[in-house]
Amino acid sequence: MQDILEKLEARRVQARAGGGERRVSAQHAKGKLTARERIELLLDQGSFEEFDMFVEHRCTDFGMEDQRLPGDGVVTGWGTVNGRVVYVFAKDFTVFGGSLSETHARKITKIQDMALQNRAPIVGLFDAGGARIQEGVNALGGYGEVFQRNVLASGVIPQISVIMGPCAGGDVYSPAMTDFIFMVRDTSYMFVTGPDVVKTVTNETVTAEELGGASVHTTKSSIADKGFDNDVEALLQMRRLIDFLPSSNTSPVPELPAFDSADRIDASLDTLIPTNPNQPYDMKELILKIADEGDFFEIQDQHARNIITGLARINGRTVGIVANQPMVLAGVLDSDAGRKGARFVRFCDCFNIPIVTLVDVPGFLPGTAQEYGGLIKHGAKLLFAYAEATVPKITVITRKAYGGAYVVMASKHLRGDVNYAWPTAEIAVMGSKGAAEILYRADLSDPQKIQARIKEYEAQFANPFVAAERGFLDEVIMPHGTRKRIARALNMLRNKELANPWKKHDNIPL
Ligand code: HXC
Repeated sequence: MQDILEKLEARRVQARAGGGERRVSAQHAKGKLTARERIELLLDQGSFEEFDMFVEHRCTDFGMEDQRLPGDGVVTGWGTVNGRVVYVFAKDFTVFGGSLSETHARKITKIQDMALQNRAPIVGLFDAGGARIQEGVNALGGYGEVFQRNVLASGVIPQISVIMGPCAGGDVYSPAMTDFIFMVRDTSYMFVTGPDVVKTVTNETVTAEELGGASVHTTKSSIADKGFDNDVEALLQMRRLIDFLPSSNTSPVPELPAFDSADRIDASLDTLIPTNPNQPYDMKELILKIADEGDFFEIQDQHARNIITGLARINGRTVGIVANQPMVLAGVLDSDAGRKGARFVRFCDCFNIPIVTLVDVPGFLPGTAQEYGGLIKHGAKLLFAYAEATVPKITVITRKAYGGAYVVMASKHLRGDVNYAWPTAEIAVMGSKGAAEILYRADLSDPQKIQARIKEYEAQFANPFVAAERGFLDEVIMPHGTRKRIARALNMLRNKELANPWKKHDNIPL
């Protein structure tokens, strides 16, 4: 019997060794951890249960019958993050470069099926060379099976992808269909085709980092939601993110013990808005002051920074925060902001996360660059997302809420549940200067006259009271009490039930 137990242990040791010492050292030399080391960091200590450790590929072409390594380039299983079940697969770059074979794909789809059936988040750690070249269509089919499951799980369980090394070819599309993509700076890159193929096809000379590094995907392309400095930071931040997320679309939003009083008053907010309406201020200050313990997990922090999106807790429960940022382009809505905001609002709505919207928006960005780039459709995405969302929606207008942007930003007209404004709010079709110059074009030649017209328009609309008189705002609140008012509103909306008309699915402007 002892003999049998020892044999099992020996096989386990062999499987855990991955591609061997040389390849593991090469992995470490690049500043990367191995697949199993990453899983150990992601999950609660000792909680990982590995599946399919002995699976090997079945390929007999190109001499592959002589190259078999247990595990076949991916480590899969489940464990817990702060006690909650999470499924995980981690590409093992030390085994065939983490490339995907038919059996490797089966290991992943097994975990995907279990995560979906048992309603728990799934995290994929990517570090791989794409389709196993020796396997041809078997590998392509394997990818297809993974993609199909990504789509079926979308909106049912949170799916998170972390790119921690090369991620090319077939490996990029699965992350692209998950809820979030995170990247490790300098050691990871993502592209459909690498620099060599780019050179052949387009004659463009580009490095892997320039083509698909974190520096590109967190800023220009917006493919990645955030970049981290190294593997350890990325994995610890994933633990933090998972704490914010419900396990599925039918699980309640997590509720953690709050050490921050829901009634907390913050007097400094009374002076947050500068006297000069054109002077910016940092909306993040307001977010950090209303969030429990100032804890805010920002999503897409380097892209479309004129709109802020991220997760926080108020009174222990997760909320999604969407806020215009006056510090960047005066908080204007452009195409990128429309897409970024819409995707986040839809994520929150999928998973029943209430949305708190903080508004200071001068409107949509004018100009040919925006119009040619599809501003109408991209702006409509955000409008559509807010309008279809059935989760509790709480809105606070701090200063400007002009034109279409007023309507878009979770206004009462889009089923905002509780709409507040600070006394500094200005709700109008446009800014007073622009409005007076259109209405009183004849007075433009007389600076005194036009100034008087601007003042007149300002007096009429540069306040929240016209909207409050119509009932478009539920109340004008003191800035210092914002956290308390939002916390109370969230509590009041806890049992909200609202359903949209039955449909197969909607047709959001893509
Ligand atoms: C089989 C692969 C492999 C692959 C890497 N390896 N990629 N084996 N299939 N796709 C193996 C290598 O042979 C090597 O084995 C080990 O993994 C490490 O690879 P290196 O090249 O030595 O590492 P590095 O220099 O760091 O380069 C990593 C890399 C490069 C950039 C990922 O390996 C690479 O370009 N690979 C091919 C990428 C690619 O074109 N994939 C196919 C995409 S097409 P040894 O034994 O020496 O350790 C695709 C279509 C799917 O995915 C579409 C579905 C819709």
